[in-house]
Amino acid sequence: MEKIKNALEKAKQQQTGTPAPAKAVVRNQPTKFIEESDDLESIKYDTSAVVELDAAYLESKRIVAVNKHDPASWIFDSLRTQVLQKMEENNWRTLAIVSPTPESGKTFVAINLAISIAQQPLKTALLVDFDLRRPRIANYLGLKLNKSINELLAGNAELEEIMVNPGIPRLTILPTKTPTTKTSETLASKNIQRLVTELRERYDSRIVIFDLPPILTADDAMVLLPQVDCALLVVCDGMNTKDELDETMRLLSKTNIVGVVANKADVEPRAYYY
Ligand SMILES: Nc1ncnc2c1ncn2[C@@H]1O[C@H](COP(=O)(O)OP(=O)(O)OP(=O)(O)O)[C@@H](O)[C@H]1O
Ligand SMILES: [Mg+2]
Repeated sequence: MEKIKNALEKAKQQQTGTPAPAKAVVRNQPTKFIEESDDLESIKYDTSAVVELDAAYLESKRIVAVNKHDPASWIFDSLRTQVLQKMEENNWRTLAIVSPTPESGKTFVAINLAISIAQQPLKTALLVDFDLRRPRIANYLGLKLNKSINELLAGNAELEEIMVNPGIPRLTILPTKTPTTKTSETLASKNIQRLVTELRERYDSRIVIFDLPPILTADDAMVLLPQVDCALLVVCDGMNTKDELDETMRLLSKTNIVGVVANKADVEPRAYYY
């Protein structure tokens, strides 16, 4: 934790004018899922395919934000509040989820945060799987895909055809089915630039969350970051060396960091603080 704090302090000194990142701590937590849709306002998805999620499967994948009785879901609501506050203050609408190295919990955080944001009546959330090397969102949610970002990039599908509504009001997923090659070139392409702009500009109330590969193992995140408004950094306590954290913060020096999640930390879930 000390290493993370030091790397952040150092980065904060370099990032003058950028809001101080919010920090959140998520501990290991078994989860239960109880469907709660009665009090949630429904919206119609004329074009998106609607796919109902399986509660037991979600629980096995630690998708906790759907279950309001699970203390772990409160953590994501608290994270949502802090993230949305900073994004609204700055008129930011696109958020990348990043980490120094693999397995930090980016996809876990991205999905749970997107669900939590969608539960706010005035917001919609769009979750995009831009980890083109190791796409996992569809698997975490148990989505069986027909067309996905793969077909969109190949020119074999329209955007509307690949959007999936996973049975949660105000949440849309843009999934990727299979790993692709030349991922950083793809993310730097004009097509992706147009797509990111289109996703951001279509609706004012929409928060777009991009799940990405780790920063230190591929340049994909570094290619996408200049195209998004801000980033949420996910780190695991004890997983990274001081050098890795310093290098990560150096690479993020031009990025608006909206917050830091200390994931898999062995502390009480209420431990949210600035
Ligand atoms: N807070 C947590 N408690 C327990 N397990 C967790 C937690 N967060 C993530 N995990 C588990 O850790 C593994 C890695 O999580 P995840 O896939 O979200 O990481 P990632 O950063 O997206 O990895 P990659 O860089 O490979 O895409 C998964 O099995 C996930 O269920
Ligand atoms: Mg991932």
